[in-house]
Amino acid sequence: MDDRVARIASIANVQAYNSHMVQKYVDGAPHVKHASLRALYSRILIQVFDNAVRYSSIPRVLDLGAGEGSVTRSFLELGASVVAVDISEYQLNELKDKCKHYGERLEIYCDDVNSALENLEGKFDVVVANSFLHHVPDYISFIKSSVSVLGEHGQFFSFQDPLKYRSLSHWERLFSDFAYLSWRVFRGDIMGGVARRLRRKKGIYLDDSVEDNSEYHVVRGGVDQDAIWGVLDGEGFDCDVISYFSTQSRVFQPVGTILGVKNTFSVVAVK
Ligand SMILES: C[S@@+](CC[C@H](N)C(=O)[O-])C[C@H]1O[C@@H](n2cnc3c(N)ncnc32)[C@H](O)[C@@H]1O
Repeated sequence: MDDRVARIASIANVQAYNSHMVQKYVDGAPHVKHASLRALYSRILIQVFDNAVRYSSIPRVLDLGAGEGSVTRSFLELGASVVAVDISEYQLNELKDKCKHYGERLEIYCDDVNSALENLEGKFDVVVANSFLHHVPDYISFIKSSVSVLGEHGQFFSFQDPLKYRSLSHWERLFSDFAYLSWRVFRGDIMGGVARRLRRKKGIYLDDSVEDNSEYHVVRGGVDQDAIWGVLDGEGFDCDVISYFSTQSRVFQPVGTILGVKNTFSVVAVK
C-alpha cells in the first residue's frame, strides 16, 4: 500500500481525535469519525495530487470552505501549495495553527467563497470542496465559478455530500434513515429533534436555527450528483462520481458498507 495513504489518513485521525473544537462535530461527521471513510478520502486525495503533480511540480490547490484545515494540511503534506478560504475566522485560526510549519506554501483568506472566487488571482491545478457543496444553496453556479479558476489539466474534487435522495432506492433510504435514527436516539433532546423534523416536513426552516443549518443536507433532498456530472461534462471535464455509504452510527457504518448501500458521494473531475 502507498504509505502516503496511511500518512494522510493519520492527519485526518488527528483531526478526529485531537481537536478541542469538538467531539460533538466529530460525532456528527461520518467522514471524520470513521477510519474507513478517512482511508477512502485519503486514497482519492492522493490520486488527485498524483495527477496534478504530473503537470506541476508544486501543484496549486484552492480549498474552498477549508474549515479547520484537514484537506489543506493533507495537500501541504504531500507537497502542494494551498490557498484556503473559509468564512469562519475561528475555523481559520485553527487551520493556521495546524499548518504553521508549511510556511509560504499556504495562503489564507477569510471570505465568502463566491467573493473569493471573483477576487483570487492566477489559475489553480486543483479546486477542492470537502464536505461543502451541501452548504451552498446554488451549488451548480458555485461549481461553474470554481472550475473557471482552474488552469489546463485542472481538477475539481469534492467529498462527502449526500446523494440526491430521489436517486436512492427505497431500501437505501430506509436503511440510511434507520441508521441515522439509531444514532440520533442516543444524542438526547429527542422531543426537540422530533419537533424540528415535523416542522421541516412542512417546509419551515429557521435561518437562525443551528440544527436546521447543520442538518441542511438531511432535510433538503441531498445534492444532485447527476446535475453536477452534467455541468462538469459540459465544461469538458472527464468526471467520475464515486458513491459510498456514510452514516454517523458506528454500528451501521460497516454494515451498510458490506451491504453495498450508497447514500453519499465524491466527485473527481479532470480536464
Ligand atoms: C462541514 S465544514 C467542512 C470543512 C472542511 N472542508 C472539512 O472537510 O473539514 C464546512 C465549512 O464551510 C464553511 N462555509 C460555509 N459557507 C461558506 C461560505 N459561503 N463561504 C466560505 N466558507 C463557508 C464553514 O465555515 C465551514 O468551515
